[in-house]
Amino acid sequence: MVPTAERFDVVVIGGGPGGYATALYGANAGLRIAVVEREKVGGTCLHRGCIPAKEFLETASVYRTVAGAKEFGIAAEQPTLDFAVSQARKQKVVDSLWKGLQGLMKSRKIVTYPGTGTLGPDHLVTVDGGTELTGDHVVLAAGSVPRTIPGFDVDGRYVMTSDEVLDLDRLPASAAVIGGGAIGCEFASMLSDLGAQVTVLEALPGIIPGCDRDVAGVVARSFKKRGIDVRTGVQVHGHEPGERGTVVSFGEGESVTVDVVIVSVGRRPRSEGLVQPGTKVEIDERGFVVVDGDLRTGEPGVYAAGDVVATPAPHPQLAHVGFAEGIAVVKDILGEAHVPVDYSRVPWCIYCYPEVAFAGMSEEAAKRAGLDVVVQKLPYSHNGRAQILGESEGMVKIVAERSDPPGTGRILGVHMVGPWVTEQLGQGYLAVNWEATPGEAAAFIQPHPSLSEQFGEAVLALTGRGLHA
Ligand code: NAI
Repeated sequence: MVPTAERFDVVVIGGGPGGYATALYGANAGLRIAVVEREKVGGTCLHRGCIPAKEFLETASVYRTVAGAKEFGIAAEQPTLDFAVSQARKQKVVDSLWKGLQGLMKSRKIVTYPGTGTLGPDHLVTVDGGTELTGDHVVLAAGSVPRTIPGFDVDGRYVMTSDEVLDLDRLPASAAVIGGGAIGCEFASMLSDLGAQVTVLEALPGIIPGCDRDVAGVVARSFKKRGIDVRTGVQVHGHEPGERGTVVSFGEGESVTVDVVIVSVGRRPRSEGLVQPGTKVEIDERGFVVVDGDLRTGEPGVYAAGDVVATPAPHPQLAHVGFAEGIAVVKDILGEAHVPVDYSRVPWCIYCYPEVAFAGMSEEAAKRAGLDVVVQKLPYSHNGRAQILGESEGMVKIVAERSDPPGTGRILGVHMVGPWVTEQLGQGYLAVNWEATPGEAAAFIQPHPSLSEQFGEAVLALTGRGLHA
C-alpha cells in the first residue's frame, strides 16, 4: 500500500450508471466511497444516451399528437419545429437530473475525483497520473463508446454517432442510419417523425436483431408506412461528400444522398489504459473486463460493472443492467446473499415509435433451444384504451412452455410492441423472472380500460379460456 494515498472502502472508476449505482447503494450501506470520473457523473446514459435520446423521442411524440389532433375534432395548425427550443429543453432535463445526481452523491458523502482513473497493483488508483487513492475494493465501471466502421470516419459534419446527433443545433433534412439496432431505430423514428427523410441500412436480414421477429416486423411495417426506407441485408461501402450532402454507397452499386450519416453499429468497452500491468484483472480481446458470476475480476477485491463487463452472451449494454450490477457488487463486498444478474431475462425497452419492450426468450430462441412452446399474440387493435388513444398498432406476444392442462407451463418470454409498452413491461418482466405460469399470472386483476389488459388477456387466453381472445 502507498501510505500517502487516501483510503476508501470502495474506489469506483467511472461515474455512469454502473459506477454511480455502486456508489449510491454502497454509501447507503455505510461504505466510504470515492468515484473517479473524467467527464460528468451520470455517464453516457444521462449525457449522451438514454435520457437525451428519449427526450427527443418525446418531442417527436408531441409533434405527432399535434399533427393528428384533427382526428379528435381539435383544430390546430400543422406543427412546425423550432429545434433550438427542443435542444434547449433536452439540455434542461439532462442538467436537472445531473444536478440531482451530484446532490445525491454529495449528501451521501461520496467523494468525486475529476479525472481519468487507472488501477495499478495493490488496489492503487491513480487519477490523471497524480492523485493516488486506495480502496479495500475497487470497481471498474469505465463504460463504453460508440463503435465506428471503416469508410465512415466521424467528422461531426457528415458522419456522426449518437454522441454528436444528440448535440445537433438543427435537424437534418435527410439521414442515412447505419445499423438498425436499438439506437438506429430510435434515431430513425425520431428524425422521421420530425420531418427528415430517413434511410436505414442494416447488414442483417432484419432490424432489431435479438428481438422477437413478430415484434421487429411490426416496427419495420410501421417505419415503411411512415416513409422510412429500411434496407436490410446490405453492406455499406463508404461515402463521398458532394455539393448537396454526402453520397453513401451500399449493396450492389446502390447509393443514397443524405445530409448526415448516423453510425449506430454497437458500442465497444472503454478499457484502454484502465488497468496497469501488475494486476490479475483480465481484459479480453474485444476490450471487455472479464468477470465471474459475482462480477469479480481475477484480482481479489476488484470488480467490474456496467458496459465494460464481459459476459458469456452479449452483455446487455443497458443502464438498468449497470444499476443491478452495482447493487450486486455492493452486496458481494458486504458478504450478503444475492441473486446474480440473469442476463438472459433483463428487461429491454426501445423507445422508437411504436415502442418495443420485452423480457425473456423470443419464440425463435425458445425453438432453437429445443423447447416445446405455445404462443399467444394479441393485437392492440382489440384493446379499448389503444383505440381511444388512436394507437392500435402492435401486439402483446407471450411464449410459454406447452402444458397439459393449458396454462400450467412456465412463461418464457413476454414481447410487446405498441403504445407505451415500455411502461407496461413490468408485469411481464416479473412473470418471466418469477417463472410464473399463465394460469398464475391470469389470477391477477387488470384495470379496465387499460393498455395493460392486453397482458392479462394474453395469459388468460393461454389457459384455454380467454375472455375476449
Ligand atoms: P446494436 O447492437 O443494438 O445494433 C447494431 C446494429 O448494427 C445491428 O443490427 C447490427 O447488425 C448492425 N450493424 C453492425 N455493423 C453494421 C454494418 N457495418 N453495416 C450495417 N449494419 C451493421 O447497437 P446500437 O443500436 O448501436 O446500440 C448499442 C448498445 O446500446 C446496445 O447494446 C443497445 O442495447 C444499447 N442501447 C439500448 C437502448 C434501449 O434499449 N432503448 C437504446 C440505445 C442503446
